[in-house]
Amino acid sequence: MAKSAKREWAACFGVLALLVGVGTVTTFAAPRRAQAQQQPARTPEQIFNRACGRCHPGGGEDIGPDIHNANKTVEQMTTIIRNGTKRMRPITPARLSDPDLEAMLPYLRSLHAVH
Ligand code: HEC
Repeated sequence: MAKSAKREWAACFGVLALLVGVGTVTTFAAPRRAQAQQQPARTPEQIFNRACGRCHPGGGEDIGPDIHNANKTVEQMTTIIRNGTKRMRPITPARLSDPDLEAMLPYLRSLHAVH
């Protein structure tokens, strides 16, 4: 009787130790994984260059029109980006995340593309 209780306790302790071990590994591994997934800090201009610069280089005309002084509201600009226009295909969150879209706004403001 006493022997089986002891064995039970040992099993219980084993499970506990395992949980603590897994917890420790997860706690230490998680921030590193998050850091690896995080994009390096980029300026609003760099975000624009990557998402829009191919067609609006520096906000100027190429495949797309010059967007200087387009003077859109943030809402209008977001709609243009997410829904596209006649000839501009929608830019999905996979290509430009919502936080990146927001972080890019100061650059669009500097072009007076948004006010
Ligand atoms: C693959 C090319 C391409 C990319 C990438 C692109 N655009 Fe465009 N964009 C266009 C074209 C083409 C037009 C003209 C659309 C039309 O006439 O229907 C346009 C039009 C626009 C307009 C004017 C729309 C209007 O109704 O006045 C704005 C503003 C704009 N783009 C902003 C952006 C922003 C901001 C990005 C990046 C998030 C971007 N575009 C990425 C091709 C692109």
